[in-house]
Amino acid sequence: MLSCSYYTLALAFLGLVVIFLFLLNSLWGVLQAIRYILAPFFIPNEENASLAKRYGSWALITGSTDGIGKAYASELAKRGINTVLVSRNREKLENTAREIESKYSVKTKIIAADFSTGRKAIEVVKEEIGGIPIGILVNNVGQNYEYPMYLSEVPENDLWDIINLNVGAATMMCRTFIKEMEERGKGAIVNVSSGAELQPLPLMTVYAATKAYIRSFTNALRYEYGSSGLTIQHLTPFFVNTKMNKFSDKFQRTSLMVPDAEMYARYAVATLGKQDKSTGYWSHGIQSFFTELIPEWARMHVGGRMNEGIRREYIEKHKLKAA
Ligand SMILES: NC(=O)c1ccc[n+]([C@@H]2O[C@H](COP(=O)([O-])OP(=O)(O)OC[C@H]3O[C@@H](n4cnc5c(N)ncnc54)[C@H](OP(=O)(O)O)[C@@H]3O)[C@@H](O)[C@H]2O)c1
Repeated sequence: MLSCSYYTLALAFLGLVVIFLFLLNSLWGVLQAIRYILAPFFIPNEENASLAKRYGSWALITGSTDGIGKAYASELAKRGINTVLVSRNREKLENTAREIESKYSVKTKIIAADFSTGRKAIEVVKEEIGGIPIGILVNNVGQNYEYPMYLSEVPENDLWDIINLNVGAATMMCRTFIKEMEERGKGAIVNVSSGAELQPLPLMTVYAATKAYIRSFTNALRYEYGSSGLTIQHLTPFFVNTKMNKFSDKFQRTSLMVPDAEMYARYAVATLGKQDKSTGYWSHGIQSFFTELIPEWARMHVGGRMNEGIRREYIEKHKLKAA
């Protein structure tokens, strides 16, 4: 009888310890989540300076005259990083550079290069960079279909552009700058992928496949160069309100799940050097967590149905416009 109550007491005590640890862990999780959500709004001075100190004072961002790339460049400039802006349109580049310089008192350099030209664009970057030591390379440039389509409907030129921008540019820009980063023993590469990489995505088949390439490429690259002191980040945004999603009104409205590019970049830059793989945005992290609980075949099916819906809407809308 006595021993029975002893065991009951011991078990109750053990139970209390487990509950206490569970609550402590949950509280820690909640505090971490609050810290993560608020962090981008309170950038301590030492954190501002730390990116430049850790990686170097110059960053190069591809596709930086609009959307995520422009916002990311501005966020880096806010932290005192000088920026090399690379896009295809010189006038937009000049305007963006002026805006960044006047807001954040940093230096900028512009390079007009059209990544759809493949190796020619990489040669232009190499010629024009003029020995600037690139500490942070952000491979952001990318293209999607005009709207969800079956493979044979996508214009051939668009497919080449998507492959050249999403795969070719990221690969060859890494090849161009990684050696000198390795020699300096410091540097960061951010490869911008997409939630589309998580499963095959019908009606955006090639776009999703290029992003799966980025995931594989980036993770293997980290294995090759991580021990040389380089940060190689794989960034996977879900929907962000930019002109890339102009095929759907739903994704052209800013919401909790669809941030604008500025809000997205504010969070994404805050993850640099802290997370090797990140969605870059708190609500995208939640989306990613729940998405990955579903089997891949089911996700592909849901994605395909979603794209069929968007396609119908798009075709309907453009017919209406034509009428
Ligand atoms: N938006 C999203 O929901 C979303 C979601 C997941 C992943 N992503 C990824 O995030 C990245 C940025 O997307 P975004 O939505 O910010 O795109 P965006 O708003 O369309 O901006 C693309 C940027 O790239 C430039 N660009 C386009 N074609 C180019 C070319 N041939 N050569 C050089 N520069 C070129 C554009 O310049 P112009 O102004 O001259 O066009 C613009 O500055 C992409 O890799 C995309 O796949 C986006």
